[in-house]
Amino acid sequence: MVVSSFLPHFLSLLILLLSSPSPTFSIRATRNDQNLLPSSTLNFPKKQAEKLIRELNLFPEHDININTGNNSAAAATSVVEKRLNLPVLGDSGATVQDLGHHAGYFRLPDTKAARMFYFFFESRKDKTDPVVIWLTGGPGCGSELALFYENGPFKIANNLSLVWNNFGWDKVSNLIYVDQPTGTGFSYSSSEEDVRHDEFGVSNDLYNFLQAFFKQHPEYAKNNFYITGESYAGHYIPALASRVLQGNKNKEGTYINLKGLAIGNGLTNPGIQYKAYPDYALDMKVISQSDYNTLQKSVADCDKALKPCGTNGENSCVTAFQVCESIFNDILSIAFGLNYYDIRKECEGDLCYDFSNVEHFLSQQSVKSALGVGNIEFVSCSTTVHQEMITDIMRNLEVGVPALLEAGINLLVYAGEYDLICNWLGNSRWVEAMEWSGQKNYSAAPTVPFTVDGSEAGLQKKYGPLIFLKVHNAGHLVPMDQPEAALDMIQRWLQGKL
Ligand SMILES: *[C@@H]1O[C@H](CO)[C@@H](O)[C@H](O)[C@H]1NC(C)=O
Ligand SMILES: *[C@@H]1O[C@H](CO)[C@@H](O)[C@H](O)[C@H]1NC(C)=O
Ligand SMILES: *[C@@H]1O[C@H](CO)[C@@H](O)[C@H](O)[C@H]1NC(C)=O
Repeated sequence: MVVSSFLPHFLSLLILLLSSPSPTFSIRATRNDQNLLPSSTLNFPKKQAEKLIRELNLFPEHDININTGNNSAAAATSVVEKRLNLPVLGDSGATVQDLGHHAGYFRLPDTKAARMFYFFFESRKDKTDPVVIWLTGGPGCGSELALFYENGPFKIANNLSLVWNNFGWDKVSNLIYVDQPTGTGFSYSSSEEDVRHDEFGVSNDLYNFLQAFFKQHPEYAKNNFYITGESYAGHYIPALASRVLQGNKNKEGTYINLKGLAIGNGLTNPGIQYKAYPDYALDMKVISQSDYNTLQKSVADCDKALKPCGTNGENSCVTAFQVCESIFNDILSIAFGLNYYDIRKECEGDLCYDFSNVEHFLSQQSVKSALGVGNIEFVSCSTTVHQEMITDIMRNLEVGVPALLEAGINLLVYAGEYDLICNWLGNSRWVEAMEWSGQKNYSAAPTVPFTVDGSEAGLQKKYGPLIFLKVHNAGHLVPMDQPEAALDMIQRWLQGKL
C-alpha cells in the first residue's frame, strides 16, 4: 500500500502528538524546556498544531466551529435529524430492506448554545443488533475519520465516490458516531463557554446526547448498548460508562442498557503507559540499550511529576504532560522519521498519514446538504478543543474501571501491536495492574491465540468480564489495518463469544 494514499486517522491521537517538538530536539533541550513550565505550556502545543495542520491544508477557516449566524438545522431545541441518502458504489450486502442512515444535530442542554453532530447507521443485518457508539480521540478529532477510514459503512475512493465497506461495524451493530467535544467535526457552538475542559463536561454532554438519541429512536432503547472508541477515547469511554451507570442508578432518564466497553489503542492510565514507551521501543529495536538507559532519567521525572496530577489535578497535570511527553519526544528524536502510529512505516510528511480525502469529501456542497450541516465547516481536528482539554490528558481514568467491572460491564482492551503512541505493552500493563475482584485470576489466565479464518490474528487474555487482545499486523488504527479481524473481534465480543 502506498503510504500517501492511506490517509485516515492518526488523527485520533494526532493532536496529542502535536505537542511534540520537532525531531531535532535533543534530550537536553527537551529537559531545559521544562524550566519554562507551566506558563509557556499553553501556547506551545497550539503553535505546533497549527503548523502541522496547515501543512496538510487542514487548518479550518475558524479555529473552532463557532457559528454566529443562523442555521436552520440547529435552530431547534433538541434533536433535528434527517435521512441520509448518499450515493454509494458496490453492494451493501444488506439483509434488511431499509438501510436507515441518519445524520443530525442535538442541542446540548447544560450549554449556552452547543450543537452536537452525529451519524446513525442502522444495522445492515438486523435492527435488534446491539447499539454501538464510537468515539474518536484527539482530544478534538471528529468521528468522520473513523467512519470513512476505519469501521464505517463506506469508504471514500480517491475520486471521492463512496464505496461500501465490507467490514463496516454496521454489519453487526446499529452504529452511532458523534463529533465531540463541542467544536470538533461538525459540532459547534456560538458560545466559547461551551468548550469542554475535562471528562466531567465531556461525559455529561454525551450522556445527554444518549438520552435524546433514545427518545428519537425509542425502538432501540431496549437493545444492548456498547461504548467503543480509540486512542484518546481511552479517557472518554470509562468516563461515559460511569456517567451512564450513575444516570441509570439515579433514574435520571431513559435506562441505558449498557453492557460493555471496548477501548482500542487507548490512553487510559498515563502513569503506566508513558513509562512503557522506553520498554516498548527497546523491545521493538526502535532504540538501543544505551538510549534506554539514558531515558530512565526522564521516566523517573515523569513518575514524580505525575503524582500531584492523579485523577483530578489542574496545573500539575499540565506540568506532568510536558515532563512525560519528553520520554516520547526523546524516542522520536532517536528514531527520526518513524511513524509513531505504526513503527513498520516511515512517517510521510509531518503527520505520517494523509487524510485529505475526508476534507475534500465533506466540503462538497451536495454532501453538506445531504448531512444538513448548512454552512458549518468541517473541522477534522480542532487545536482549540485540544488545547482546552490539556489538563485532562495526564489524568488517570483507570480508577473508574473496577466499579464498572464489578457492575458486570464487559471491558475489551485491544491494541495493534505496531503502534508506539498507545502501545499494547502499556495497555496490557495497566490492565494487569488494575485492582479488582478478578485481578488475581486475570493475572493467572493463559494467553491464547485469537484466530480469524483459521489463522492467528492476535493474542488474548481473558477472565470474567475483562479481555485484553493484542492484534497482529496492525498499528494504531486497527480497523483500518486489519478490517476483517477487527469486525470479527467486535462481532464475537458483542455476542459474548470472544
Ligand atoms: C437569526 O434568525 C432570527 C429569526 O429568524 C433573526 O431575527 C435574526 O436576525 C437572525 N440572525 C442572523 C445573525 O442572521
Ligand atoms: C471512482 O472510484 C471507484 C472506486 O475505485 C470506481 O468504482 C468508480 O467507477 C470511480 N468513478 C468514476 C466516475 O470514475
Ligand atoms: C480464581 O483463582 C482462585 C485461586 O486464586 C481459584 O481458586 C478460583 O477457582 C479461580 N476462579 C475461577 C473462576 O477461575
